[in-house]
Amino acid sequence: MTGVTGRVALVTGAGSGIGAATARLLAARGMRVVVNYLRSSTAAQDLVAGIEATGGRAMAVQADVREVAAIEDMVRQVQAAWGGIDVLVHNALIPYAVKPFQDMTWEELGGKLDAEMHAAFAVTKAVLPTMTGQGWGRIVYISTGLSRQPRENMIALGTAKAALEQFARYLAQELGPQSITVNIVAPGPVEDTRMARMADVFDDAHKQRQVAATPLGRLAHPGDVAQAVAFYAAEDNAFMTGSTAVVNGGMSMY
Ligand SMILES: NC(=O)c1ccc[n+]([C@@H]2O[C@H](COP(=O)([O-])OP(=O)(O)OC[C@H]3O[C@@H](n4cnc5c(N)ncnc54)[C@H](OP(=O)(O)O)[C@@H]3O)[C@@H](O)[C@H]2O)c1
Repeated sequence: MTGVTGRVALVTGAGSGIGAATARLLAARGMRVVVNYLRSSTAAQDLVAGIEATGGRAMAVQADVREVAAIEDMVRQVQAAWGGIDVLVHNALIPYAVKPFQDMTWEELGGKLDAEMHAAFAVTKAVLPTMTGQGWGRIVYISTGLSRQPRENMIALGTAKAALEQFARYLAQELGPQSITVNIVAPGPVEDTRMARMADVFDDAHKQRQVAATPLGRLAHPGDVAQAVAFYAAEDNAFMTGSTAVVNGGMSMY
């Protein structure tokens, strides 16, 4: 392990995919990691065991990030064990409809917007008191390139994540004076995630076109995204806020 700080990092939706890779990397960098999960109890426990086997520290906590009471209970459990949360990585993937606007109901589009923003709002509210009290904090929201670059059938996800990104920038402005940084990591398509395994989102022909359009010649792995998160979460990364790290191998450049 390098750079041991003992900072406590909460990673939401850390049972699989990007969240799991992020939890592993932050632990390897010396943070105590809270592995939040919804249903993947075994995966979360296995992840904690793997982190501990390599000398890191982690705990798994079940909580639905759409439920305020569950979030508050999770934060209380962490406080009892380790004190407050210093680093928030909000990564949990709230389900959404994959379909054209013309087939979409307001319940589907509005429901995704509401759930995405409510989860981000509630998780952030719950962790902020410790960060503001100590005058130090790191917040990273996981977004997607689809927030800027539309793709067919992804209007619910792309629109909700665009709202999340602007929310992050407002927080960056408000929380900067308290030495809390707020940044966004926006991946392109990531392999070894549930979304990548959904044939209607990620069929082979589509994947081949995406790889061909990527200068670095492959799609992202969860670990690639974790690198950007760890960069923002680092103890000594003190002067970047309101910014976006794009993790897409150069597939689009902006
Ligand atoms: N995959 C991609 O290509 C891609 C690209 C760009 C951005 N992203 C973003 O990256 C983030 C992670 O996505 P992923 O692809 O790694 O997803 P994933 O493999 O499906 O994992 C998502 C995790 O979120 C958890 N989760 C879902 N609903 C939750 C809730 N209500 N409360 C707590 N946890 C919840 C799940 O927990 P359980 O397993 O316990 O149910 C799961 O472990 C998302 O924000 C997504 O939008 C993904």
